[in-house]
Amino acid sequence: MSPSRSPRKRSQPAAVGSLPALALPAVQLSAELPSAAVLAVPTRPEGDGAVLCGSAPVEDVAGLLSREQAKGEAAEVVSVPWTGAGGPDRVLLVGTGDAGPAALRKAAAAVARRSKGAASLALDLRGLPPGPEGLRAAVEAALLACYVYSCKREQEPRALAKITVVVTDPAALRPAVDRAVVTANAVAAARDLVNTPSLVKTPQWLAAAAGELLHGLSVTVRDEKALAAQGFGGIVAVGMGSSRPPRLVEAVYDGGGSRHVVLVGKGITFDSGGLSLKPNDGMLTMKTDMGGAAAVLGAMRAAADLRLPVKVTGLVCAAENLPSGSAQRPGDVITQYGGTTVEVLNTDAEGRLVLADGLAYADRVLQPDAIVDVATLTGAMPVALGRRHAGLFASDDALAGQLEAAGEAAGEPLWRMPLVEDYRFALDSPTADLRNIANPRHKLQGGSIVAGLFLREFTGGRPWAHLDVAGPARADGDEDELTKGGTGYGVRLLTQWLETLAVQAAPTRRALRRRTA
Ligand code: BES
Ligand code: MN
Ligand code: ZN
Repeated sequence: MSPSRSPRKRSQPAAVGSLPALALPAVQLSAELPSAAVLAVPTRPEGDGAVLCGSAPVEDVAGLLSREQAKGEAAEVVSVPWTGAGGPDRVLLVGTGDAGPAALRKAAAAVARRSKGAASLALDLRGLPPGPEGLRAAVEAALLACYVYSCKREQEPRALAKITVVVTDPAALRPAVDRAVVTANAVAAARDLVNTPSLVKTPQWLAAAAGELLHGLSVTVRDEKALAAQGFGGIVAVGMGSSRPPRLVEAVYDGGGSRHVVLVGKGITFDSGGLSLKPNDGMLTMKTDMGGAAAVLGAMRAAADLRLPVKVTGLVCAAENLPSGSAQRPGDVITQYGGTTVEVLNTDAEGRLVLADGLAYADRVLQPDAIVDVATLTGAMPVALGRRHAGLFASDDALAGQLEAAGEAAGEPLWRMPLVEDYRFALDSPTADLRNIANPRHKLQGGSIVAGLFLREFTGGRPWAHLDVAGPARADGDEDELTKGGTGYGVRLLTQWLETLAVQAAPTRRALRRRTA
């Protein structure tokens, strides 16, 4: 089946367009200490206290650290104002713990936060010194801690403008810093999308923003007519309660290589629950119900900017879930892409309906090597894992292992969850192929697992992973490199995964060439 496409949509409302380069501080890498308003120098734990790594223009540093009872733990900051003529206004002595990437992330974020309002920050890492992974982690975190939502940027004119990272061998570490800058900008773009209020952020707006963010890539948008004509029954059903119709964005980045992966993002621009209406408190944060879509778009921006040798297709399933006279009803039976019928018993379990279309389309039409979906899918997920880990569900152990490793390396951890076969029967329906929530009679609990089992039905047995990011997609306050509101969770982990895929793909291509030579 070869679906006809509606024309590319490129009209773009303000907020997202001009963002990446301007949003975050500029980063420079230098072998020399520049003059800067704030100088940060690392410390590390030794015995019961902390010692300086390198040197600082501060009298009796050892005595100061001891009087301050510094421990050198990651993110501990001893702030020393005024350091003499010609020097910085302030020296920050920052603990770096075990100096691993996770600790450097915390330390760099702490320093960047404490430098807000200063014009420039010099981060002297010569005494550490970090490897490429550590430096990348530190630069990403410093930048991300400085993120301010694009609509508030004008109100914070005194934000840190420049960060200079001082290392002994800048040439060797330049690629790590470049990658960090690309990734942080992609995360910032994702955060802007998530933070945009739903009054502005309609499915059309999200589709236009995707086209803008992914300039240079092929971006196709299906409107509500194309969706209905081509059988995307889940996206249509979820979107039909809103006067602002649904969209499916299909973006392709082809960097060559032997692997094709599809990323599917839940793009519910507002989730009221539909006729299965949420209480007011449950809706307050539901402009962020497109966090999965934002992660997919951010990762594709980063993959393209890094010119990774993989092919990535991104599918953003965008709809607004509202109650109205035209909304879908509990008890309706809908037909998903590919023909599977679903009895919709709760219109608030809408994410799985839009994703099912995306997954089935990926499996049947795009036929990739792997499918990964990202979704703020279930309220039960943060109950289980808290707000730092996303739940990982996977039909393939190798894929799961790759994603877990990528999450660990990128500072966006995943925790693998089981797809419990014994719960599958609860999705059987008397009137359709599936029901969209477990039959309450069975008192199953495990709502996140049931949602995963539902999605699996649409993946055609391909290597597939589902990231339930309902916990980490949003932060209640500033913490480490995270900022209140949308976190862009998933961008760093997916980018890291695509990078490792690209590395693995290289020998395969060489082997192929050898074989055909
Ligand atoms: N978007 C919500 C999940 C969610 C809840 C994300 C809270 C972040 C914070 C999703 O569409 C939803 O409403 N899920 C329901 C499913 C239920 C009706 C089976 C849920 O988790 O309660
Ligand atoms: Mn819902
Ligand atoms: Zn939702």
